[in-house]
Amino acid sequence: MGDQVKLSADGADLEYPVLKGSVGPEVIDIRKLYGQTGKFTFDPGFTSTASCESALTYIDGGEGVLLHRGYPIGQLAESSSFMEVSYLLLNGELPSQDELSNFEYTISRHTMIHEQLRHFYQGFRRDAHPMAIMCGIVGALSAFYHDSTDITDPEQRKIASHRLIAKMPTIAAAAYKYSVGQPMLYPDNNLSYTGNFLRMTFGVPAEEYEVIPAVEKAMDRIFILHADHEQNASTSTVRLAGSSGANPFACIAAGIACLWGPAHGGANEACLNMLREIGTPDRIPHYIERAKDKNDPFRLMGFGHRVYKNYDPRATVMQSTVREVFEALNVQDPLFETAMRLEEIALNDPYFIEKKLFPNVDFYSGVVLSAIGFPTDMFTVLFALARTVGWVAQWNEMISDPGQRIGRPRQLYTGPTQRDYVPLSQR
Ligand code: ACO
Repeated sequence: MGDQVKLSADGADLEYPVLKGSVGPEVIDIRKLYGQTGKFTFDPGFTSTASCESALTYIDGGEGVLLHRGYPIGQLAESSSFMEVSYLLLNGELPSQDELSNFEYTISRHTMIHEQLRHFYQGFRRDAHPMAIMCGIVGALSAFYHDSTDITDPEQRKIASHRLIAKMPTIAAAAYKYSVGQPMLYPDNNLSYTGNFLRMTFGVPAEEYEVIPAVEKAMDRIFILHADHEQNASTSTVRLAGSSGANPFACIAAGIACLWGPAHGGANEACLNMLREIGTPDRIPHYIERAKDKNDPFRLMGFGHRVYKNYDPRATVMQSTVREVFEALNVQDPLFETAMRLEEIALNDPYFIEKKLFPNVDFYSGVVLSAIGFPTDMFTVLFALARTVGWVAQWNEMISDPGQRIGRPRQLYTGPTQRDYVPLSQR
């Protein structure tokens, strides 16, 4: 018998098994607690709760470590490609050359969206936030691909996963094109996954679009950095939505909705807006004071993380990617200097040191995406595009688990106790 944790409740001594993962904190299996004690645990925000078992991604927040299927994010960002990382997340192992070529071919054959789906865009206002469009269009995929919504069929799950990964760049680029009033471009499957996305976003039918290799590489790396991140809010949303048996397209639309929030994926947009508001380094101290003021809702966007109590390893890669893109495009952005100075000041401030607040992946991503040419409101869309891989991999893992049950949290009820209805005339 493995380790047990003892709990005394109402005079009775109860024992709960301790489960060990391959690495990371052990977990106390309290599944029998309610049945034995009639009591729930209380953990809003899931600060001490493992919501599932997973073999995909591991984070050691104290050490600033992020592993996908065991491989450090720094190595993947340096040497791999987004397609290879996608294969790894979906299948558990790095692909052979043949496996990678087949996977890339399969994904490239699913890049087109149903012609009727293109008309959906016309229903949105031109100034609609592209994340609003993403929620709608991705949810609408459920209405177009009925042949891959039977979640009990592994083959259909696989096809749905490939469709989502393949169509996301097309859908995201079309959302951008709609907002700027340019014609949507059809995918070009001769290009790489990322090259095709750049072309669909920045190309126009009147001209040949030339993909700049350095930008393509940087963009691909940014996708790798966002591919998966354990049980974050949007991934947990996808899992919870999927736990009811909802189809994958609906589940990913739910994930997109959750990602949109400024405490999550929306932080990259909020961070660049913040840097613009700060403007020059001399104004930083004022904003640092605001971030520390409990009576001021202002927070340093792109700073702090529920899990990382050390430098987010993705932020390190992102910072060097900024330099690469600036060099390739021969541009400079004074906001990068402001961001670096802000980081330096914050990392030397007792408030941020004590609370272990470090830059997260979003701190530098806005600067680099802006240099590539994306408007601010597209930033979170790019995050959604990349995270789709993680979402579908996590969703598949959950659905494949024979012990999978609907996610159904309980609560600490604080409302009125039972009382009798009072007719309107007597109120
Ligand atoms: N600026 C100033 N203070 C902060 C910040 C910040 N960015 N982040 C956390 N704090 C403070 C809080 O005020 C709190 O102080 P207290 O203990 O005195 O009350 C303490 O640090 C802990 O913060 P919580 O909000 O309790 O931490 P939580 O784990 O719930 O939130 C979160 C994490 C949402 C990321 C938070 O740090 C934040 O809002 N950061 C800014 C938004 C952001 O960058 N989000 C992106 C996250 S990464 C991603 O989704 C890709």
